[in-house]
Amino acid sequence: MPPRARAVVVAALVALALTACAPGSGIDPDDPDQVEVFTWWATGSEKAGLDALVDVFAAQHPDIRFVDAVVAGGAGSNAKSVLAERLADGDPPDSFQAHAGAELTDYIEAGQLQDLSGFYAANELDDVFPATLIDRLTVDGAIYSVPTNIHRANVVWANTAVLTAAGIDPAAPPADLGGWLEDLRRLREEGVAVPLALGTEWTQLQLFETVLLADLGPDAYSGLWTGETAWDATGIDAAIAHYDELLDYVNSDFAGLDWDTATQIVVTGNAGYIVMGDWAEIAFAQAGWTYGLEYTTFPVPGTAGVFDFLADSFVLTVGAPHEAATEDWLSTLSSVDGQQAFNLAKGSIPARTDVDASAYPAYQQTALTSYADDVIVPSLAHGAAADVAWSSAISDAVSRFGIDRDVDAFRRGLLEAAERSLAG
Ligand code: GAL
Repeated sequence: MPPRARAVVVAALVALALTACAPGSGIDPDDPDQVEVFTWWATGSEKAGLDALVDVFAAQHPDIRFVDAVVAGGAGSNAKSVLAERLADGDPPDSFQAHAGAELTDYIEAGQLQDLSGFYAANELDDVFPATLIDRLTVDGAIYSVPTNIHRANVVWANTAVLTAAGIDPAAPPADLGGWLEDLRRLREEGVAVPLALGTEWTQLQLFETVLLADLGPDAYSGLWTGETAWDATGIDAAIAHYDELLDYVNSDFAGLDWDTATQIVVTGNAGYIVMGDWAEIAFAQAGWTYGLEYTTFPVPGTAGVFDFLADSFVLTVGAPHEAATEDWLSTLSSVDGQQAFNLAKGSIPARTDVDASAYPAYQQTALTSYADDVIVPSLAHGAAADVAWSSAISDAVSRFGIDRDVDAFRRGLLEAAERSLAG
């Protein structure tokens, strides 16, 4: 074949391969033995968790092909808009990842999810998940998704060597934000350029939500999402002031870093702390570190006794091309084996209450105890507290504040976002 013709053939093959890899393509709607699953779990602990679950799926349902429609970007920062387009175009994946709570309500109200009550009954799932979790998945008596896990968002991850070198005892976490700010100041004085690692927009939102939680307490924090707590309460001003001070101690390139890169600043010893959900656990485990030796965790100071909660769950879409195979996928992820494999790799704890808890390593033991004993509140950054429109509006205000540090504009932005959402 002449070189030019060969080049044309190669280009055509590449185009074909790219098309086959794109989400929504490479799927044969007439072949029932496949399931297209949409997530943002593309790398690190997130991919490890998904891979572990897919292995169990392959063992339980060897005839069904798993089609991975992944869109990278922590907390669904890119995936959610791609998903919205696909749903609007009438091209739904069979199943997608959605957070339990307010975020799920968006999809339910838009009529995009099938009621899974029959699936729950057939698989005897009603009693295996905590009642509080079932409540967050249920709307008007129908239940629309199946949870894989429970994550905690109000966790500080600390590099013990960095702390100890600055004379801070990693085993004695500060009781409140004021005490933590003193430790951050101390790290800076001892030459640690980045006392607190921070990342892109949603990680800022997550940090801010934990500061709100610390300054308002769990009841008033939960009341923010129902209208019971006013957004101009004094606790809000205290939270804005604390958040402003915390930003004095972060890396200057935070806006460009996803959570995994920001977490590595702690792992490499260039930062003392990061506030991150417990998907970060695997980053420390993969460094070969032992919990309580090279790294430790504690609740964000001021939030001890509170579990800032989120859960990943999977749905069956309206119009899913492969309904039966999707039910097989949901049955694997809700099975004891599926939950165990997934959560051991993901850093979270199982949503099922009948899974062997003793198998979990030290960090997850703390999460298991906290989830059982503590007050549970919904995470803002991870879809449990507010719908997508409201959390995006708060996220915009938080990230603008990260740039302009304009306290009045921030306060106004938060208030206006609440007024719009609670009125609507
Ligand atoms: C959360 C999600 C977690 C983890 C994290 C970082 O929203 O629930 O499972 O993936 O984002 O991407």
